Amino acid sequence: MFQTRIAGIGHYVPKNIYSNHDLTRFMDTSDEWIQARTGIQERRFADRFGETTSSMGIAAAEMAITRAGITAQDIDFIIFATLSPDYYFPGCAVLVQREMGMQEVGALDIRNQCSGFIYALSIGDQFIKTGMYKNILVIGSEKHSFAMDFSTRGRAVSVIFGDGAGAVVLQPTDDSKSGILSTHLHADGTDAEKLAMYYPGSANGMHLDNPPVWPDVELGGLFMTEELVKDGSIFPYMDGQAVFKKAVVKFPEVILEALTKNNLTTSDIDLLIPHQANLRISQYIQKVLQLPNDKVFNNIQKYGNTTAASVPLALSEAWEAGKIKPGDLVCLAAFGAGFTWGAALVRF
Ligand code: ACO
Repeated sequence: MFQTRIAGIGHYVPKNIYSNHDLTRFMDTSDEWIQARTGIQERRFADRFGETTSSMGIAAAEMAITRAGITAQDIDFIIFATLSPDYYFPGCAVLVQREMGMQEVGALDIRNQCSGFIYALSIGDQFIKTGMYKNILVIGSEKHSFAMDFSTRGRAVSVIFGDGAGAVVLQPTDDSKSGILSTHLHADGTDAEKLAMYYPGSANGMHLDNPPVWPDVELGGLFMTEELVKDGSIFPYMDGQAVFKKAVVKFPEVILEALTKNNLTTSDIDLLIPHQANLRISQYIQKVLQLPNDKVFNNIQKYGNTTAASVPLALSEAWEAGKIKPGDLVCLAAFGAGFTWGAALVRF
C-alpha cells in the first residue's frame, strides 16, 4: 500500500467582484445584514457566457498540475466535484479530459455538494493507495451565479454563494508518515430536502407538502413549467437554521473522529481549513475545538460560499500565503447538502 500525498495545489476565481453593496442593486439587503450573519464581504461571479464550471476547474487544474511538476498528459484519473455542472449530463470531468487534451483516462463526477471535495479526495486516496493510479487530478468548481434568485425573494440564499474553483494533484509516496493520514465520510439523508434544488428532477416535486399541478400528459415531458419559473421553485431551497444547527454539531464531531483515529488531539492541528459555509459556523467550530485564530483559515469574506470549490480554494490560498509548511498537520473538513459531511487529515 502507498500513502497519498498532495503534490500540487491550484485555484481560480473569476475577476468580477460583487460586494454586498453591489447586491443591493438587485434585492432588498444590506452589507450589515450579510456581514453580521455570514461574514461575507464580497464574492466573485463568473462571466455569464464566457466562463463555465469546467473552464474554471481547468484553470485551477492547470495551476495544480504545474505546481506538481507534471503535465496534463501525466494525469491518469480525473475526479470532479460540483453541484453546478456545465450540463445536466454528461458531467464536468469528461469536459476537463477533452479540453486539456488528456489521454483517454477515467473521468468521474461527484455530486456531494459542499462535502464534494472531501469525498473526491477520499476516493482519489483509495485509488492511489492501491497503486491503481499515479497522478490523480481532483477538482472542485462551482458557477452558482447562473442559478440563483437575485431578487429579494431569493436573498436568504443568493447572498451566501459565489463562484470559483480549486484543484489538487494526488501522487503516491513511500513516506508512510506524510500525506493523507485518513479520510472520514458521513451522510444522513433524513433532511435531504432542507438544502436542495428540486428541479429538474424525476421526483417532480412530489415530496413537497403542496406538489405542483402538472400538465396533463401521460408520459415524458420535462416538468419545468412556466409556473415553477415564475414562483421561484426552480431555484435552490435552504432551511438556513436547520443547516446551521446540524453543521455546528457534525463539523467538530468528524474532526475529532479523524484526530482520534490517528491518536492525535486538537493541539496537534497546525491548520484547520473548514468548508467556507458561513464565517459564524467556522468561528463556532474554532471555539468548540479551542483553536487559536492563526490555526484556522477562512477566506469566505472574499469569496462567499463556493461549495465544492471552497476547501481546495482555501487550501490553495493558505499554501500560497505560506501558512502550510513541510511537516504541518492540516485538517480539511466539510458539511453540506444531503446532509453529507467529512474530514481529511493531511501531513504536508
Ligand atoms: N438581507 C436582508 N434580510 C434578509 C436577507 C438578506 N439577504 N435574507 C433574509 N433576510 C431577512 C428574512 O426575510 C427575515 O426577515 P423577517 O424577520 O422580517 O421575516 C430575517 O432576515 C431573518 O431571516 P432568517 O432566515 O431567520 O435569518 P437567520 O438569522 O436564520 O440567517 C442564514 C439566515 C444566514 C442563512 C442563517 O440561517 C445561516 O447562517 N444558516 C446556515 C446556512 C449556511 O451557512 N448555509 C451555507 C450553505 S450550506 C453549506 O455550505 C453547509
